[in-house]
Amino acid sequence: AYNAGASAVIIYNNAPGVINGTLGNDFTLDIPVLAVTQADGAALASTAGLTMRVQTDTFRGQATTSNVIAQTSGNTDNVVVAGAHLDSVNAGPGINDNGSGSSSLLEVAEQMAKVKPVNAVRFAWWGAEEASLVGSTYYVNSLTAEEKEQIALYLNFDMVGSPNYVFFVYDGDDSDAIGAGPGPAGSAEIEKTFEAFYSQRGIPFKGTDFSGRSDYGPFIAAGIPSGGLFTGAEGIKTAEEESIWGGTAGIAYDPCYHQACDDIDNLSSKALDVNSDAIGFAVLQYAMSTVDVNG
Ligand code: PHE
Ligand code: ZN
Ligand code: ZN
Ligand code: ZN
Repeated sequence: AYNAGASAVIIYNNAPGVINGTLGNDFTLDIPVLAVTQADGAALASTAGLTMRVQTDTFRGQATTSNVIAQTSGNTDNVVVAGAHLDSVNAGPGINDNGSGSSSLLEVAEQMAKVKPVNAVRFAWWGAEEASLVGSTYYVNSLTAEEKEQIALYLNFDMVGSPNYVFFVYDGDDSDAIGAGPGPAGSAEIEKTFEAFYSQRGIPFKGTDFSGRSDYGPFIAAGIPSGGLFTGAEGIKTAEEESIWGGTAGIAYDPCYHQACDDIDNLSSKALDVNSDAIGFAVLQYAMSTVDVNG
């Protein structure tokens, strides 16, 4: 979660005010409270010395978060970026969303020590995805035109071990007529790479929305070919999907999506096992060559 920290700005009934304290703890304000108001607009307090508590369920503030970026050796004119968001919503620990993607990516990064990549692989663990893709947006906006040019492609992993999973691949070519249309040129080839992984193992897969609902959004907005995996969030599994992947039709792919119960039990070990291999497969393929994406 991105809620820790000593200094915060609260906006209550649209009135901003600076407070100092830790979420969930009582603290005493040492400044006059001018900007904290009740829902009816009346001032809650206007003098110093008031004891207050910031509750996570009413927190609508700001905190500082970080992206964590690590890069292998290899050609830095042809960088393969692979990312997963590290934060969760405040409601819960975020094990499927997105401990699943961030831990799988960490394992792949560690395994990269065994190979000598041709292209540099830049692993990114994004902060504050849940606050509207803040970390990944900041990163892409921070790049110069030349640095953007040096990125061959972006791979995204957000929710890859859902308990009631389907093996979804971002629909970069729009051939499934899902989402907002095809991604930047090269995205279709990335989709094919993931499809080849599943096909070679006789595992069924399905296209899913490629409209920007995770950290690949800022990358496709910048014209960088992108792709990734997903095993489902609040969407409801259909009877047809149950017949293909098992699980339970009529309930969500992740019944604990954005809830306190997104804990260590909220995973399919099968989905996580398959998809961590898929992540390794795609990262390693592109570490060695990106000709199918960029020519
Ligand atoms: N970005 C969403 C979240 O973190 C999950 C999601 C990922 C939804 C990919 C759709 C596609 O909550
Ligand atoms: Zn989420
Ligand atoms: Zn997520
Ligand atoms: Zn497709």
